[in-house]
Amino acid sequence: MGKYFLSWYSLNQNEIAMKTTFAGILILFCFYMFSGCKPNKTFTENEISLIPQVKQKSQGKSSFRFKESTKFVVENVDQKIIAVQFAEYLDKASGWKSQVLIGGDEGRNQVYFKTELLMDPEGYQLEVQKNRIEVKAAKPAGFYYAMQTLRQLLPIEIERKQKQELIEWNVPVISISDSPAYKWRGFMLDVSRHFFPKKDIFQVIDYLAMHKINTLHLHLVDDQGWRIEIKKYPKLTDVGAWRVDREHMHWNSRPKQEPGEKATYGGFYTQEDIKEMVAYAQKRFITIIPEIEMPAHVTSALAAYPQFSCKGGPFTVLPGGVWPITDIYCAGKDTTFQFLEDVLSEVIELFPSRYIHIGGDEATKTEWEKCPECKKRMKTEGLINVGELQSYFIKRIEKFINSKGKILLGWDEILEGGLPAEATVMSWRGYQGGIEAANLGHDVVMSPSSDCYFDYYQGPMDQEPLAIGGYLPLKKVYDFNPLPEELTAEAAKHILGGQANLWTEYVSDLEHAEYMTFPRIAALAEALWSPKEARNWEGFSHRIQQFMKRYDQMGINYSKTKIPNRVPVLD
Ligand code: ACM
Ligand code: ZN
Repeated sequence: MGKYFLSWYSLNQNEIAMKTTFAGILILFCFYMFSGCKPNKTFTENEISLIPQVKQKSQGKSSFRFKESTKFVVENVDQKIIAVQFAEYLDKASGWKSQVLIGGDEGRNQVYFKTELLMDPEGYQLEVQKNRIEVKAAKPAGFYYAMQTLRQLLPIEIERKQKQELIEWNVPVISISDSPAYKWRGFMLDVSRHFFPKKDIFQVIDYLAMHKINTLHLHLVDDQGWRIEIKKYPKLTDVGAWRVDREHMHWNSRPKQEPGEKATYGGFYTQEDIKEMVAYAQKRFITIIPEIEMPAHVTSALAAYPQFSCKGGPFTVLPGGVWPITDIYCAGKDTTFQFLEDVLSEVIELFPSRYIHIGGDEATKTEWEKCPECKKRMKTEGLINVGELQSYFIKRIEKFINSKGKILLGWDEILEGGLPAEATVMSWRGYQGGIEAANLGHDVVMSPSSDCYFDYYQGPMDQEPLAIGGYLPLKKVYDFNPLPEELTAEAAKHILGGQANLWTEYVSDLEHAEYMTFPRIAALAEALWSPKEARNWEGFSHRIQQFMKRYDQMGINYSKTKIPNRVPVLD
């Protein structure tokens, strides 16, 4: 050191400049070493992988570092519930005990929530500065989505449930302004073909929330199982929830239940389970839509109450596929409608959603053509064919649903024979049904099988687990556009958004459901949340590969199909 300073006087300008710089670096180094204070990390753009992509962002230098002393300062109880959920993630992974306070002055080392009216109800602004984070939204949903974005800005270890050592909980300095392109961002899980217990539903809700999906449609009824307790009709679950176990056989070659054979495979949700699921979803800004199928896909109900069919049975809950579906509810008997109204009354009590899905798809009406009571109904109602009888059926159910203050939602077959006055259509056989309904002034959720059916293969068939058929690779989901160009501006207003559907004929547990859902759900989320300008496939290809590291931390069984060696650009 002494020699260094002694020689200082004999130096020229350049040498002085060099030595000054060196001395500066040395002093800074010593300061950091001894004070324990390093400069905050600056993130490269590639290190930030948000899915769905946000509407606008502008990244700065440096970062905010979460510490145990970082406080969450919120305005009210609703916001506190949201901040606590975020803090729980942080605390599990860091081993801390973060504080969430209602009220308090703005200050450093805080995540500060502030209501800003006039924003989109699901939108938010997130300002990460070096010393504090400010979150603005008009509604709780916006704060919730801001927290999902903040979570994605944190190191992937945030997803771990145990304390992680030596992680710096940095988030980049960034300014984000975000809101969704569509208000219906849905995912359907078929819990009938295979039953998924309540804990799986909680898990699915967590997955959806992370991707800013806001609707979980539960397909609760089908030929192979009735999955919801109805107090007035206990046999729906005593009988309808159970089938003979033929799981070792191909779905489409499973013999029916033999006389005397016990039905042991299945399960159902009690009404208490449903209440828990609804509450769990609400806390994560997800609406659960119940689907109670009619008039077809109901062999499970008819096995329990055959009197509501045309022929009267007997029927058994089917252990596998059936086609065509001819054993359906009788449209001639008033008792059928009484039964359905009773069932729907209990369902409506349980689910706060605006919409009740009544299915309506794939009814082969040959029994209606033969049935004296159905023929009588057609005569008295002046219906010229069984297509009109189906329309009568759905319209009658709609009246009841409307009388309870709810909106009827059904698959696009409900267009046939005339659409009920207030119905919303879920378009699955392509886009056409949705276009037709929107042109008629009805709301529409686009869910075309070509782009949204997650039971389809996502890669080459010989490399994939057995699936129902079809082909829906990641890019096709990414390119899903719920808004057909041919729609007029007026009709376009009726497109609420889109939805992916996971039918589970070939999916018997959550691990396989994850495989079919991930990463396609990420592509769907971006198609429905991010504006066109913020989206591009190359960017997504990079981000999804980063995101998969997050999935790894979460233990998600995602598909790696079509991502050979995880090359940066997929096609
Ligand atoms: C459907 O896929 N049958 C709605
Ligand atoms: Zn009948």
